Amino acid sequence: GDGVYKFYSDGEWRKSSSGKSVPIINPTTRKTHFKVQACSQEEVNKIIETAKIAQKSWAKIPLWKRAELLHKAAAILKEHKAPIAECLVKEIAKPAKDAVTEVVRSGDLVSYCAEEGVRILGEGKFLVSDSFPGNERTKYCLTSKIPLGVVLAIPPFNYPVNLAVSKIAPALIAGNSLVLKPPTQGAVAALHMIHCFHLAGFPKGLISCVTGKGSEIGDFLTMHPGVNCISFTGGDTGIAISKKAGMIPLQMELGGKDACIILEDADLDLVAANIVKGGFSYSGQRCTAVKVVLVMDSVADVLVEKVKAKVVKLTVGPPEDDCDITPVVTESSANFIEGLVMDAKHKGATFCQEYKREGNLIWPLLLDNVRPDMRIAWEEPFGPVLPVIRINCVEEGIHHCNASNFGLQGCVFTKDINKAILISDAMETGTVQINAAPARGPDHFPFQGLKDSGIGSQGITNSINMMTKVKSTVINLP
Ligand code: G3H
Repeated sequence: GDGVYKFYSDGEWRKSSSGKSVPIINPTTRKTHFKVQACSQEEVNKIIETAKIAQKSWAKIPLWKRAELLHKAAAILKEHKAPIAECLVKEIAKPAKDAVTEVVRSGDLVSYCAEEGVRILGEGKFLVSDSFPGNERTKYCLTSKIPLGVVLAIPPFNYPVNLAVSKIAPALIAGNSLVLKPPTQGAVAALHMIHCFHLAGFPKGLISCVTGKGSEIGDFLTMHPGVNCISFTGGDTGIAISKKAGMIPLQMELGGKDACIILEDADLDLVAANIVKGGFSYSGQRCTAVKVVLVMDSVADVLVEKVKAKVVKLTVGPPEDDCDITPVVTESSANFIEGLVMDAKHKGATFCQEYKREGNLIWPLLLDNVRPDMRIAWEEPFGPVLPVIRINCVEEGIHHCNASNFGLQGCVFTKDINKAILISDAMETGTVQINAAPARGPDHFPFQGLKDSGIGSQGITNSINMMTKVKSTVINLP
């Protein structure tokens, strides 16, 4: 056709009546690689209306049948891993192997969610009244979990497939319908993933995928009265959404500035390996990336040398070649990262490597002797640039971590488990990893941010529960 990917509504692939499209720029070539439909507000209205109707019958389909369909979708998703991964390579410059891993992980997530759903939703509660003062045993209360209605899922560019299914699968197993608004970079991978759900045979209208410009349909979607729940992963936009959304449950996972605190007794080889993996995988474009290293001064020189030796070995280039460091997602992102690097340079940070950039490709860079007056000490580059701050006591590290607006994850390296637990308790973050870099997975673990890092908790079980509401029926005995 005209080379514009269609959007998905009421079980069919459609062209937008707007006649407009949105280009998807390949971060490596910086040329338009795909185009998707620029949907209109009218089309959004239609999708939400259909979703509302489809949800009512979906909720009546037995739970085990809903699970069966999800298992089917998971298997189809895995069969389609190669073409979906290919999209991830072209749209978001994810290294080829990681792109495949993302799709396989997503299939596993969908299956796990189906299994978890049949168990946790297969149970309710039974309460009796005489435990509360003044009551006889004359009231029996039966509770179960009912769906919320229409769930709006908005995943970010860095995991357009995995962070979409982490919202889609819990919503569906719990009996909700689902409207997906994928990120522009990653939209075609998401459409292909939705195609797998289409092939699995879900009822028409239950799942839809609307593409388009945030300026045209963003607020319209998030403020739509037909939406009963929003699950969002991304940046500052999430704060704006929280302020504008109606009285509906919100699940938000926003930015992070995950700190890595290193004590004097730490295994420095283990630390260096985790800093490089945690700081530089997918070129630092992970919300859970290590974003600031806080190391005891007495071991800092040795650690920095070990990290440098590993950074030098990182391959830099196109995602097709499976390079470790690939172009960052957009030119404006590269410019933002460069701004942080230049600020650190003017303020006297030590450059462990030369700063190098070609287009959106930024070579990995470790900045030593970073001080709190530098922007990079606090801001999230979302790129392959990692600041090291030297500390003289653990309290200094904890203080820096807690002074951040963010509170997603953090990590601490030490052989002393008692100290590690005390430090974990003191760190104001949703998760603290002991002796490993931050990470969201395995995908059934709870995942949450404090402060500006989010609202609520994710992970398979928490997401299923969050996308339901408790309903009770009370039997009053004579
Ligand atoms: O970018 C945010 C993701 O939730 C991080 O997931 O730890 O598996 O990379 P990850």
